[in-house]
Amino acid sequence: MKIFGTHISSGAFDYLSNHLGQINSIKEANNKLYRAFGIVNFFECENDFQLLKKSLLLTENIVSESDRAEYGDFQTNSELTNSIAYYLTTKKIQPSIVIEPTCGKGSFIIASLAHFNKIKQVFGIEIYKPYVWESKFNIIDFYLHNPSENKPDISIIHSSIFDFDFNSILKDIKTSELLIIGNPPWVTNSKLGSLNSSNLPEKRNYKNYSGIDAITGRSNFDIAEYITMMMIEQFQNKEGHVALLVKNSVIKNILFEQNIKKNAISGFEKHRIDSKKEFNVSVEASLFYFKLNTKPAYKCTEFDFYNNSEPTLNFGWLKDKFISNTKLYIDSKEVDGLCPFEWRQGVKHDCSSIMELEKRDGFFVNTLNETIELEDNLVYGILKSSDLKDIVVGKTRKFTIITQTKVGQETNYIERLFPKTFSYLNTHKKNFNTRKSSIYKNKPLFSIFGIGDYSFKPYKVAISGLYKTFHFTLVLPHNGKPIMLDDTCYMLGFSKKEFAVYTLLILNSDLVTRFLKSIIFLDAKRAFTKDVLMRIDLAQVANLIGKGKISEKLDVFNETYNTNLNMDLWNDFIEEISLVRNQQLELFN
Ligand SMILES: C[S@@+](CC[C@H](N)C(=O)[O-])C[C@H]1O[C@@H](n2cnc3c(N)ncnc32)[C@H](O)[C@@H]1O
Repeated sequence: MKIFGTHISSGAFDYLSNHLGQINSIKEANNKLYRAFGIVNFFECENDFQLLKKSLLLTENIVSESDRAEYGDFQTNSELTNSIAYYLTTKKIQPSIVIEPTCGKGSFIIASLAHFNKIKQVFGIEIYKPYVWESKFNIIDFYLHNPSENKPDISIIHSSIFDFDFNSILKDIKTSELLIIGNPPWVTNSKLGSLNSSNLPEKRNYKNYSGIDAITGRSNFDIAEYITMMMIEQFQNKEGHVALLVKNSVIKNILFEQNIKKNAISGFEKHRIDSKKEFNVSVEASLFYFKLNTKPAYKCTEFDFYNNSEPTLNFGWLKDKFISNTKLYIDSKEVDGLCPFEWRQGVKHDCSSIMELEKRDGFFVNTLNETIELEDNLVYGILKSSDLKDIVVGKTRKFTIITQTKVGQETNYIERLFPKTFSYLNTHKKNFNTRKSSIYKNKPLFSIFGIGDYSFKPYKVAISGLYKTFHFTLVLPHNGKPIMLDDTCYMLGFSKKEFAVYTLLILNSDLVTRFLKSIIFLDAKRAFTKDVLMRIDLAQVANLIGKGKISEKLDVFNETYNTNLNMDLWNDFIEEISLVRNQQLELFN
């Protein structure tokens, strides 16, 4: 049965039809519903009261379902909310106040009413009016089936969480035990940006990231992360607990920030759920639990929600190091330091239809299937993450136009020196000018990013940021030209082939693999990042593995790839990486 486009059980429908028919005042109706079900101000205004009375006569779907993408709308099924509430009772949690920050249809509220019998007050906040109704209908239905259950005061508030004044409820919370429970929206601020949605907190850049990081995506965050942070800031000094279903990335970020923020929270638990089964989405998510008003803690224990007797691993801060698996970290921690070379992200152009080219019958063809004539000078082979499957790569499927040798360089020269290239780019000027990212604003025409001297080094050691394969690839020049990498990849550039191969052998060692496994988060979209790669102390690993072992590995490499490299430059290599390392250490000490 549907009313206002939301579901209503036949029990709740019959109850409301039978009891509201004769009532003409909103006050009387609200009193009746409060006495029967504990719901405070069931009708927020006269209009709502009249509307419901009228609608009870027509049980049609009056309001059609709108596009809910901007609200990150994934309602939690009652089996899961009940299991979560049950789990909390096994931890002896018996709250007197329950807050559901984005309550949707009220599944967590119902599960709380069913499992916690000491609740005195419930606050549910929800932005979408049909869900506010549905929560109330579901509460009626719950009490019609469970008339003897404890009936706290229940407020279901129609508001955006970002406008809700928590101080209005904070004053009631003194010594009472609080439970913040729910499943905040699964949507990122960049997705909201693309939907032109205003469902965002006011302080958009709330982590205070600045400059390029903010622009290129480091500031991209899930609004669930913001809501979780809001809850922490508001309630960390109150007795209580937080249990929220969130993406794993949110949990990782909250733990990461804990080292700086030192919030009064601890007892972190991450219980992995099967999002495909529960929400039919392919997102890694978990129940995130922690305790409020405690000495700050910095480590989180991970469990499988469906079999949560034994923890699977621990992650978080170990002194000043952030790690994904403490056990693995212990025997590879010597690797953790500072890479003497700077890892760089590949080329970024955000214009793939024009800039991604293939070669067919001697001509370049773009993804719009246009055949193009270009001078060779600015055309370079380019590799994507998916091209880095092998240990050595010396040619490419794709090509691109490298319009600049460093970020911000003027591009007028293209018209003068390479008329065919200019004509092609200029014909598609609109594609460049309509690129969304603000990094291209007020920059020369056809600008690209992720470009510098390092891009033109002949030998590169690269890794995909997206694939979780833990292997590094040697990228060789093709026809005398360096091969480029796209912005899903990270690379180190070398002038000497030997240096590149020594680095490759070091990075592909078991020790580095173990170390990387102990610090990367496999469920992150981009598992390998510059921050992660910069932690590999090449000089230290070279030392630990030793020249003899590397020499053996080099023999195997020579045999496999038909090369004839030797260890003659090893000492120069060690000298260079140690020198840079020592300079870095001086800087940091
Ligand atoms: C992932 S759903 C979960 C709903 C409910 N907590 C549950 O577990 O079933 C997220 C909910 O947040 C609501 N929502 C989105 N933005 C909101 C906002 N700014 N303020 C309050 N609620 C919001 C959505 O309408 C949706 O009902």
